[in-house]
Amino acid sequence: MNEKNAAKILVVDDEDRNLRMAKAMLIPMGYEILLARNGKEALETVAESPPDVILLDVMMPEPNGYEVAETLKSRESTRMIPIVMVTSLAGVEDRVKSLKIGVDDFLTKPIDKSELRARVASLVKVKAYYDLQRDCQTQLEKQVQEKTEELRTAYESLQDSSLETIFRLSRAAEHKDVETGAHLVRMSRIAGIVAEELGLSKEEQELILYSAPMHDIGKIGVPDHILLKPGQLDSHEWDIMKRHTTYGGEILGDSNKPLIHMAETIALTHHEKWDGSGYPKGLKGEAIPLEGRITAIADVFDALTSKRPYKDSYQNDAALAIIKEGRGIHFDPRIHDAFFARVEDVILVRDSINETEQSIADLRLD
Ligand SMILES: [Fe+2]
Repeated sequence: MNEKNAAKILVVDDEDRNLRMAKAMLIPMGYEILLARNGKEALETVAESPPDVILLDVMMPEPNGYEVAETLKSRESTRMIPIVMVTSLAGVEDRVKSLKIGVDDFLTKPIDKSELRARVASLVKVKAYYDLQRDCQTQLEKQVQEKTEELRTAYESLQDSSLETIFRLSRAAEHKDVETGAHLVRMSRIAGIVAEELGLSKEEQELILYSAPMHDIGKIGVPDHILLKPGQLDSHEWDIMKRHTTYGGEILGDSNKPLIHMAETIALTHHEKWDGSGYPKGLKGEAIPLEGRITAIADVFDALTSKRPYKDSYQNDAALAIIKEGRGIHFDPRIHDAFFARVEDVILVRDSINETEQSIADLRLD
């Protein structure tokens, strides 16, 4: 019911005389009166045009008043419609039975006009209150939903901006080098594939995927004549080159953000080797953080298949053969096996992301 419409009262009785009498009593109150001659008709009318109050005769052919009331009170859409049971039975048992069903009030035949009007008026008010409460609830839920959606959009936008900043900063470091943005995207995606194969949670996979592009950010501290030297580095130059790991650790250090903290770990440990012969610390086996072991294999594979100032690129098969030889020496055997379990996906990333297609969108998890 809304303010503009009159309350609708459904009167259900199998005797025409009773229907006419109830209608005559209620019309002067300004209500719209709906009539039903049996339980079936009553349920149909409620479904078609939900009333605000129902006057329900108990003694009717199947379904009787109790059954109709039970059906309406058990349905979510109709349970809040007040029902007045009209009965000639005055027994306590019938009233208890009605109350158990959820009936709201009683009238005893013969119906007294004043009593009928008073009870219906009171229940119309109750129903209006229910409707108001329901509308407020619906409105509130809608507002909460809208605000949640706004927050989600804002969060996604913020996350996109953060990721783009990471990607661009990492590319700034790579820009000094001849490595490219495409290497960052491929290496990160391959690391993400291996992380997935290892059964890491979606959250952990995302952390690795989004922090891996920063693995070589410390190269920003390596002088150009070493970084861009076309030939092999001498041992002194190599020592300086190795420092990109610790420089990266310093740049990314002391963050309380999980993503940056993981990027720090990856920067520090992506050149460690399973047998302890890597750098900067010569960590061995599981002393190397998992994310460092994962990014190591992704970085080496992509570097092998890319052209560098000091070497040509390997074909995929030749690069895979080198990776295979590194099982248990350079690479954690478990991670090596996960890499080969998904080698088709790895090759797809290697062959599909090239210099012109690199973009932050390529970093998305599927
Ligand atoms: Fe590196």
